[in-house]
Order: sequence, then structure tokens, then C-alpha cells
Amino acid sequence: MTATVLDGKQVSSEIREELKKEVQQLKDQGVQPGLAVVLVGEDAASKVYVSKKAKSCEEIGVYSEVHRLAATTSQEELLQLIDKLNNDDKINGILVQLPVPDHIDDKAVIDAIALEKDVDGFHPSSVGNMVIGDDCFLPCTPHGCMVLLEKSGIDLKGKKAVVVGRSNIVGKPMAMLLLQAHATVTICHSRTKDLAAEVKEADVVIAAVGRPEMVTGEMLKEGAVVIDVGINRLDDGRLVGDVHYESAAKVASYITPVPGGVGPMTITMLLKNTVEAAKKCK
Ligand code: GUN
Repeated sequence: MTATVLDGKQVSSEIREELKKEVQQLKDQGVQPGLAVVLVGEDAASKVYVSKKAKSCEEIGVYSEVHRLAATTSQEELLQLIDKLNNDDKINGILVQLPVPDHIDDKAVIDAIALEKDVDGFHPSSVGNMVIGDDCFLPCTPHGCMVLLEKSGIDLKGKKAVVVGRSNIVGKPMAMLLLQAHATVTICHSRTKDLAAEVKEADVVIAAVGRPEMVTGEMLKEGAVVIDVGINRLDDGRLVGDVHYESAAKVASYITPVPGGVGPMTITMLLKNTVEAAKKCK
């Protein structure tokens, strides 16, 4: 079997075209959606992601401002900025790029973001609402994976889904959204006894561990759907996912590439959440 590529770039660009029209309609009604992105420190990957997020806003007409703060910024200073953004009418969404430096408690930072501006969906109240299926902003990466699956016509009902990774940003919310789509869900992590055996059972595999090419073709069941959330830069400069693409593509029925799979979907969901947040302010 040779897998069909799930083209996140293409699906993203279709959704962004729709969003662009919605933004124009909002502007015609006097509403300008706005996103504030906050970056603390010098993490190289984070710098790239933040620039991409701001550029993507610009492309669909969403106002954006990037606050680049020194790595030595205190937690108090960061909380003061969030308070200011919470009370700024130009701003509908606030995103603090994670990770923040070690001296800052990320939980305190996330808690400080106003719920109605939590376009990352990381606030504990947003997470709680997601778990019970109430209206909330969904976390962008898992939401992006779900939309990509939906738009590709992949039915999850009754399927065995294995999520590899249990982070608050991807693994845990991903499992919850798959459950809401009626999949039977297993979460694997560093203490899982036999990862290969778990993955072998899966109709759908979501790899979100941050370890280059750890899920290989021989671990997969024939015809599995493979979603690769990882973005890892190797010493030789190559960008690879958490899945060994070449071997996996020979066994899977569908697979996301890296780059051009989940990455663009994450940013598209951020744009969608920001536009939704602005609509609620009409
Ligand atoms: N770091 C890695 N992914 C994300 C994300 O989706 N949002 C934020 N704020 N930080 C991240």
C-alpha cells in the first residue's frame, strides 16, 4: 500500500480563504479581529512559530501584535502585560508562546488570560469545557488534526486510535477530541510497557512525542491512518516528524507529511479561534 498524503497546506489554504472573507465581513461591520502573540526569551523554534503566526494573521486581514520580551522578564512583568492585553479592545485573542523560561510558572500565565481571549484553549476552564463538550476554544493542534481528518472524509466512529504522547498541549486534548468523535482511544507515553504492540492495534495513530522518526512503518497496522504532529530539526539540518515517513507511507492508508501536514492546520485553527473571538464581541 502507498499512503494518500493528507495535505494540510492545501486544506489550510481553503479554510483561510473562507476566513479572509469572514474577516472582511466583520470589518464591514466595524469589527477588526486582533491577536496578541507574546514570546518570552530566545527559543529558536518559538521565534519561527511566532513570526509565522503574525504573518498568517496579516494574510487574512487579522490585526496582530507581537510582544517579544527578554528571557530575563519576570513573571510579574509578564502578568502585567497579560492584564493590559485582557483589557485592550483591539485584542480578541492572546497567545503566550510556550515554553516560557523556567523561572516563570506557565500555569500562572495561562490562568491569567481572560477566558474569552484564550484562543489557544489552554485555560483550565477551556480545558474543562472541552472535556464535557461545551462551547469553548479548542486547542489549535489537536483541533487542526481533527479538521484535517474530517475534511479528508476519514470516519473515526468505532476506530481504535492510539495517541503517542500525553502533553497538555497535544496528547491529552487530542485523546479527548478523538473520544468525542467516537473513537476508542489509548494514550501511550514514556512508561507504556510495549509501545509497538499498542501502535500495531491502531486504525489511527497520532504521534506527538517530539522524538524524531520514532514511529516506524513496521510498527503500524496495514492501512492505518497516521497523523504526525512532530517537528524535529536533525543535526544534519533536515526537518522530520515523529514518524519515519518513508517506511510508514508504505504501510499506511493516509499520512501527513512534515512539513506541510499538521503545522499549517495549527495556525489555521488559531486564526479561526481569533475570528470567532472577534465575532463574540460584535
Ligand atoms: N508551543 C507549542 N505549541 C504551542 C501552541 O499551540 N500554543 C502555544 N502558545 N505555545 C505552543
